[in-house]
This record gives sequence, C-alpha cells and structure tokens, in this order.
Amino acid sequence: MKRVFSGMRPSGQLHIGNYLGALKNWVELQKKYDCFFCIVDYHAITTPFKPAEMKRNILELAKSYLASGIDPKKSVIFIQSDVSEHAELTWILNTITPIGELKRMTQFKEKSKQYPGYINIALLDYPVLMAADILLYKAEIVPVGEDQLQHLELTRTIARRFNKIFGQTFPEPKAILTKAPRVMSLTDPTKKMSKTDGEGIALIDSKETIWKKLSTAVTDPARIKRTDPGEPKKCNIYTLHQSFSSKEELDYVADGCRKAKIGCLECKKILAENIAKELAPFRKKYTELSKNEDLVYKILVDGAKRAKKIASQTLIEVKRKIGLLI
Ligand code: TYM
Repeated sequence: MKRVFSGMRPSGQLHIGNYLGALKNWVELQKKYDCFFCIVDYHAITTPFKPAEMKRNILELAKSYLASGIDPKKSVIFIQSDVSEHAELTWILNTITPIGELKRMTQFKEKSKQYPGYINIALLDYPVLMAADILLYKAEIVPVGEDQLQHLELTRTIARRFNKIFGQTFPEPKAILTKAPRVMSLTDPTKKMSKTDGEGIALIDSKETIWKKLSTAVTDPARIKRTDPGEPKKCNIYTLHQSFSSKEELDYVADGCRKAKIGCLECKKILAENIAKELAPFRKKYTELSKNEDLVYKILVDGAKRAKKIASQTLIEVKRKIGLLI
C-alpha cells in the first residue's frame, strides 16, 4: 500500500483554507492508503510563538484532525517532536542542501518580511525539516495546499540528490491538490487565507461568527451599488460557493450577480448557511472530544510509537548508507 504523509502547524485554529486545501483530501486518502498525519510542532517554533499556548494548540490540532474524520484506527496521528528522528534526518539532509536553494523559497522570503526580528536558521531550514518528515516514512503522496508545492519540489530534489550520492533510498514524493488548493483571504482576496490574519473562517466558528466574517468580506469591486451588475469569476465569495453550494445555488447566485437581481448580502447569506451546515458535524465532534481529552492524548502517544517504528528503521538505513553506523 502506498504511503501518504502530511502535516499542519499547531499555530492557531484551522480555517476553511486548511480544510478545503488539505484536510478534506486527507480524510478521503485514508480509505485507500497507509496515512501518517503529523502535528508539526518543530515547524511551528520557527516563527514567534508563546510557550504557554503551544500545548493547547497541539491538542486543538489533534482534536481538529479527529473531528474532521481522520480515523486513528486507519491513520497514524502523532506529534513531530515525539519522534526525534525528524530532527536527526534533517541534520543529515542539511549536508546535501545548498543554502542558496533555501534562500530562494517564497515562504522564507514572506516570513522574513513578516517577522524581520525573527529570521533564524530554523526558518531557513524549514523546508529541509519538511523533506525529512516526508522521506522518513518513504511517503509517495503528500496532500497539501498550493502554497506548499515549492517545498515539495525541493523535497523531490533532496531525495534525488541523496539517492544519487548514496544509493537508491527514497521515492520521490508527489504532491496532490484538492479542487480548492488556494483559498483567499476574506478581507484581501489577493492574499491567501491564513491562520494569523484572524479573518479566516475557523472550522469551529458558530453560524453567527461565520455570518459576521462573511458579511464584511470583499466581493467583486465592480458592485459598488446594489444595482451594479457583477462578475462571479472576479468574486471571492463565488469561489467559496463553488466549494460549499449546490449546482442550483451556484446558477442562482451567478445569474443573480451578473444581472444584479440579487445583492451581495443575499449571496453571502446562502454561503453562510451552507458553510455552517457543512461544518456542523465537525463542531459537534470537536465539542465531544473536548470533554475527553485523555483519549486524544492516548491517540497521540500510540501514534508516536507507530511512527517511531518506521522512522527509526529509515534513519538506521540512512546512517548505514552514509557510513555512520560502525
Ligand atoms: P500549515 O499549517 O501552514 O498549513 C496546513 C495545510 O493547509 C494548507 N493551506 C491552505 N490551502 C488552501 N488555501 C489556503 N489559504 C491555505 N492555507 C494553508 C497548506 O498548504 C497545508 O497543506 N509546511 C506545512 C506543514 C508541513 C508539511 C510537512 C506538510 C510540515 N511538514 C510534510 C506536508 C508534508 C504547512 O504549510 O502547514
């Protein structure tokens, strides 16, 4: 069975971008593949964070994985720092990764701009740790959002380079995307929705909060007055409709927008209803899990054991190949 690996940073509540761009795919993939879903806490400390909040964030992310339908009987759910091999393989892969390749990464450039006082070595090394995550499990499939494609390409380069120098060891993993690989911000649709912008619709948001965030969201700028016709293709709200609404509703809002038969608020109301409906089972399960966090801890401890078994084998193989195990 082919292996799948993916992860998310425990850096705040998941939003519909994480859900539509990655998590939705994870739930589907676990039906067919051997899946490893990681809580990448070592990645989360490369940008500013509060130690007191980290434990909560990790637990909340684990609950989100479970609430979205990741089944711990089928998939391995674990915390990255529980499996020390991730850091060890990173160190080895660092030795075959030129600094120039890392300095070119878009995410490194963006985060450096966002946190000019926090440009640390680990931030630069982020993609090598990501490569180690994937290659430790010899994963062939990596479901991520579009923003991670460049990192995935680097992982493939690193795998190829390692194989060439030290002999065939790693498969070259392929990224797979969903139909909505880049969900845009509600307040600035030229930027992707992110955990830090605070405006994203969180998976645990109530119907009222979803409505509050949607009601002020940016639409097609051509629709200044209610009577101005718009173009759905230029509207972020319509793009979201494509992920949450039925074919009939899509036709209704597209036609209503083009002919100015409906206003943006009516269009948003339909979307808010549909998002709330789709996320309702998630919220319910999340609330249930919050009453039984011991169970979540147990799942993470068990997951780390299962992950370590494979990670340690790969690390031994890698060390042998580079002549370190005597
Ligand atoms: P993170 O936590 O930033 O993002 C988690 C996942 O959500 C996707 N995503 C989005 N998809 C669509 N639209 C958006 N607006 C949006 N925002 C986020 C991301 O692409 C990602 O799939 N570096 C990874 C974590 C990671 C990882 C790995 C992933 C560490 N090691 C190994 C795969 C394999 C990240 O971006 O996390």
